Amino acid sequence: MALNLRKLSHALGAEVCGLDVSKPMSEAGFGEIYQAFLRYNILLFRDQNITREQHIEFSRRFGELDRHDALPRDRHPRHPEILMVTNEPKPDGAPSDTKYTGRQWHSDMSFTLVPSLGSLLRCLSVPEVGGDTMFANMYLAYETLSDGMKRLIAGLHGIHLSGTRKIANTETGVPRAEEQRRINPPVAQPVVRVHPETGRKALYIGEKVKRFEGMTEEESKPLIDYLVAHATRPEFVYRHRWRKDDVMVWDNRCTMHLALGDFDETQLRHMERTTVLGTPSGRVAQGA
Ligand code: SIN
Repeated sequence: MALNLRKLSHALGAEVCGLDVSKPMSEAGFGEIYQAFLRYNILLFRDQNITREQHIEFSRRFGELDRHDALPRDRHPRHPEILMVTNEPKPDGAPSDTKYTGRQWHSDMSFTLVPSLGSLLRCLSVPEVGGDTMFANMYLAYETLSDGMKRLIAGLHGIHLSGTRKIANTETGVPRAEEQRRINPPVAQPVVRVHPETGRKALYIGEKVKRFEGMTEEESKPLIDYLVAHATRPEFVYRHRWRKDDVMVWDNRCTMHLALGDFDETQLRHMERTTVLGTPSGRVAQGA
């Protein structure tokens, strides 16, 4: 099977054109997709009118799936492999627990000891305009740092928190954030990770990082802010405008992403995500 690929941006991403992910696929056929995934870091499949079961089945080709024990409120009641990302209110009219999911630069499950290999997000409903997602190439972010900065961050660990740092979410966030903090103690992750399959170094930072291990928040903040700003320079980023039935898979080991709140919240934005388990990384943070 020769893949028909179209680049999405200079920094990262490719669309796999004309492929139905619900159709049977040989090992060799999937191998080509996986090689493209490693090369382009994010892959887009358009017009995938698939079921939840098919979403799960295709995701399993990438590896074992997370059952989202770290985010129990957010998973689908009958399909624990599916994480809901929706602003659809609950049946009693209360705001959705996942209304603000992803509204800060992050790599999925970085606040656990098994950060994700990759995620597959399926778009079921998008607002008339906006609700885009931005992706940053963290290989480029690392490789374009000066040698001095590379030396400075080489041994650093960032303390990753679950829940939000930036959004004062009094509407939906209090029970969810408390529960997340109880289940997920802060985790120290290396600021530079070596991708286990490509061997390339990537920056592993984001807005869930509160401070560096062994340093105060005040000391850490300027460098965290610098590294996030550097990694999200326009030349390292792709901004995806969703269409219904898009499926996007990204490599969490060398990208980070941000769900934008640039839309009319009275309109439905409904996405569903599977999360592929990665390899163990990091340690529970001491004295966090
Ligand atoms: C996520 O962070 O997994 C969700 C991203 C999005 O909703 O665009």
